[in-house]
Amino acid sequence: MAIVRPPTSPGLSHPSQIGDNGRMTLPATSADDRAIGVWLLVCCAMIFAMAVIGAITRLTESGLSIMEWAPVTGALPPLSAAEWERVFAIYRRIPEYTELNRDMTLTEFKTIFWWEYVHRLWGRAIGVVFLIPFLWFLLRGRIRRALAPHLVVMFLLGGLQGALGWYMVASGFAERTDVSQYRLVAHLGAAVAIYLYILWVALGLLLPNIEASPDPRAGALRRLLVALTALALTTLASGGFVAGTNAGLVYNTFPLMDGAWVPAGYGQIEPWALNLFENEIAVQFNHRLLAVATLGLAGLLWLWSRRLELRARVRQACDLVLAMAALQFGLGVATLLLVVPVGLAALHQAGALGLVTLALWAVFVLRPASSARP
Ligand code: HEM
Repeated sequence: MAIVRPPTSPGLSHPSQIGDNGRMTLPATSADDRAIGVWLLVCCAMIFAMAVIGAITRLTESGLSIMEWAPVTGALPPLSAAEWERVFAIYRRIPEYTELNRDMTLTEFKTIFWWEYVHRLWGRAIGVVFLIPFLWFLLRGRIRRALAPHLVVMFLLGGLQGALGWYMVASGFAERTDVSQYRLVAHLGAAVAIYLYILWVALGLLLPNIEASPDPRAGALRRLLVALTALALTTLASGGFVAGTNAGLVYNTFPLMDGAWVPAGYGQIEPWALNLFENEIAVQFNHRLLAVATLGLAGLLWLWSRRLELRARVRQACDLVLAMAALQFGLGVATLLLVVPVGLAALHQAGALGLVTLALWAVFVLRPASSARP
């Protein structure tokens, strides 16, 4: 069925219609929607970068270097030698310093401080880049009624994410020398959820007129792509547990672990369920298993997509998903074999986001035409 665009009507949402000639008429992309869509994509790019900065912060063991929660005044770093001494003295009180870093100098402390500082500053920058254009669009009446609640929820989720980050960091200030892996995964998972939500809304605004693929099995393919996205997200979360338990520093062989397909010691913790989150052997094994399943499903999906009559864009999206899954798998194996070098592990984190981005994109381009715009 051919698609016809009616004249652009800024700021209004039109229902889909069947015209006199029997052709389907879809709402046009208004200039306002396009501007908001581009702005939201910029926010997505900043969140993507934030996830990579966050990974580097963790990998360089920098995350516990700022022990004060000061959303506004904390935007300024220490500006005098006395101030540096003060913040270093606070750091010297926590177990990470007393148990692991007793010989750390002020110069070394500054390095870890700057990573955490950049991570928090970037978080503030995202808040500003979101809030200022939001108020501008709002005051000029350029936000459609249906869209406004989405934007408010996005802003609130962003604020909560900052608080969750602090809750995570606070778990490393007493008793333990690093943060809780549960809070790390919650922080990572929330970042990815917010990112995908904003991306989904942005795509709906920028590309409201997605053409349906002619093959009747396209709906089933789309459901499988949703399943792949969910599986990739589960693998991503399990990667957070690998990172959070430092499970990547042991069993640095592939495909066998300790010379076996299933390593001894998988279920050594009682109660058994805790193995899934706290036993580094089980945590790493499960991450491998989920990664194999993700790559396998991406491969099957790609094979199936070859047999269907799909739009070129959908076909290309399935190609990209498989290529990214394979690349991400390779990055994971390399990260493990080389015992978690910072650059490679950060790339592996970026690859995880790249994979879920492409999976979401594939789901999006297979959307039913009439429901594309929020
Ligand atoms: C679809 C495939 C995969 C996805 C989506 C994925 C995702 C992730 C994520 C999100 C992290 C956390 C990064 C961080 O918080 O810094 C991670 C960590 C890790 N992954 Fe994967 N991964 C995949 C495949 C693999 C494979 C096949 C291996 C090796 C056999 C692997 C080994 C690791 C290791 C060793 C870490 C810990 C690195 C660190 O401490 O930062 N991954 N993964």
